[in-house]
Parts: sequence; structure tokens; C-alpha cells
Amino acid sequence: MNECKKRLDQELPSYINHLEMPESLKEAMLYSIHAGGKRIRPILMLATVEAFGESIDQAIPIACAVEMIHTYSLIHDDLPAMDNDDLRRGKPTNHIVFGEAAAILAGDALLTQSFELIADSNLNSEQKVELIKLLSHAAGPSGMVGGQMADLDGEKQALTLEQLEYIHHHKTGKLLMFSIMAGAIIGNATPLQREHLQAFGEHIGLSFQISDDILDVEGDEGKIGKQPGSDENNEKSTYPKLLSLKGAKEKLKHHFDEGLSHLSAANIKENRLRSIAKFIVERDH
Ligand code: IPE
Ligand code: IPE
Ligand code: MG
Ligand code: MG
Ligand code: MG
Repeated sequence: MNECKKRLDQELPSYINHLEMPESLKEAMLYSIHAGGKRIRPILMLATVEAFGESIDQAIPIACAVEMIHTYSLIHDDLPAMDNDDLRRGKPTNHIVFGEAAAILAGDALLTQSFELIADSNLNSEQKVELIKLLSHAAGPSGMVGGQMADLDGEKQALTLEQLEYIHHHKTGKLLMFSIMAGAIIGNATPLQREHLQAFGEHIGLSFQISDDILDVEGDEGKIGKQPGSDENNEKSTYPKLLSLKGAKEKLKHHFDEGLSHLSAANIKENRLRSIAKFIVERDH
């Protein structure tokens, strides 16, 4: 994971550095890209490609594309009109440093640029079209953006577990699922392997946001790089709030176990993916 992260940390800015744009916009985009983060989505994608015995090189632009979209979602998520947070990836949030307008535009720019990376990649045209379609679906109104809207609509409301699952599945699960499915496409998975990987992605995606909710309650600011208690301040519905910390941890274990059974059924070289799934449920950041 560390090796992969190092490579991504180098490759990501290279897709922005060479572009012609106002310096102020480039500075705001690079600030959030350089701030780091776990790079879990691209790492999951590359591990899936590897599980099919394919070279990861051809997948690097797609991996960087999903990380750009994720980074944009964080910049917008932190805005005063959304979660109103001041700390991200251990640094002041984008709007605190560059102002709201530049933060909104840096997010827009990362979102749009990501699709050019896929179009310019060395994959075949059929794969590119499929990836662009899947990514726009995962990031858009029926994916992450829809989940973010439902998350905001749900503030100060008592939601059912089913409603909360919808939010988590969309705001976070969809981009994680895309990462795994992109790996399956690049790895030429069979339809049955795709089905199992999709189910693995669904459970791992939910697990990821349940852990994030738990870390918002018990996490350490120095480790998570953001201020804990954001959910409580915004009166969000979360797994710990609905089910207690103990109940949230049980759900986490349930989705982890379900996810792993689908991973095994996919019949691929699964060791790395299994370790990443384990990291997702046990992480402290
Ligand atoms: C945080 O994502 C927002 C969620 C969708 C839970 P990450 O925990 O992957 O954040 P970084 O990229 O490591 O900063
Ligand atoms: C965010 O969920 C999901 C996104 C699409 C960015 P959160 O609002 O819980 O993420 P953090 O805790 O701020 O990283
Ligand atoms: Mg949020
Ligand atoms: Mg937030
Ligand atoms: Mg959170």
C-alpha cells in the first residue's frame, strides 16, 4: 500500500502541473492534492487490477481520476454551506486558505479534469466509454452527489437505518464501488466475477463510511487529520448515533464479513484486496 501511495502521490500532481490555467486555480487544486490522504480508492483499483494478473500501469490515469473526484468531493464537503469544517488531511481546509470561490472552482476543476484523464489513457475505446459512464454515474446525482444531498437533507432529522444506509451507500459507497469495478473492467473480469466484486464493493463501501462515523466520535485529531465531533455539531444521522458505538461496530463487522465472502467467491488473487478491506475496518485514520 505504501509503495502504491508513493507512486500516486507523484503521478497525481503531474496531471495538473502541465495544464494551462490561472495560477491561483492551480495553487488551490494542488494544495488539496498535495495534502495527501490515504489514497484508498486508487489503491483499491490498482489492487483489483493486480488481482487479475494485469499490469497496473495502464490503470494509473483512471486511479488518479477517481482520486481527483474524491478530493473535489472533500473540498466541497468542507465548505461552510455543507459541513463547515476547518481541518482536512491535517491542514486548514481549502476554503480557509483560498476563500470559498476558489475552493468551489478548484473542486469543479478537479471533477471535470478527471474525465480528460480517462479519455487520454491507453485503454481501448470500449473500456474508456464504460469507465466514463460508470464514473459519471458513481459521482453524480444517482451516486455521490445524491448521497451528499440526502446527507444534508437528513440533518436534524431522525432517520431510519434504511435511510441512513441510502446516504452512506451513495455519498461514499459508490466511488469505492467504482474503484473496484474499474479494476474489474481493466482486469477483464467475467460477468460472474463482476457480480461478486460489485457485492464486495457495496459492503466495503458501507464499511468505509461506518468507520468514518466511528472515527468522528472516537478518533484522534492528530491521526484523522480532521476535527472529531463534526457530525454531532451538524446534527447528522450516523451509525453510532442510530445504533450506539457498539451497534455500529457490529454492523461494521457484518458488512466486512459479507464483503469478504463475495471476494472469495470472485476467485481471483485476493490477498492484497483482503488486506485493504481489513485496513478499512481496523483503521485509526
Ligand atoms: C473521507 O474519505 C470522506 C469519506 C468519504 C468518508 P477518506 O477517509 O478516504 O479521506 P482521505 O482521502 O484519506 O483524506
Ligand atoms: C463525506 O462524508 C462524504 C463525501 C462525499 C465527501 P463526511 O462528511 O462524513 O466526510 P468527512 O468526515 O468530512 O471526511
Ligand atoms: Mg459530509
Ligand atoms: Mg464532512
Ligand atoms: Mg465523516
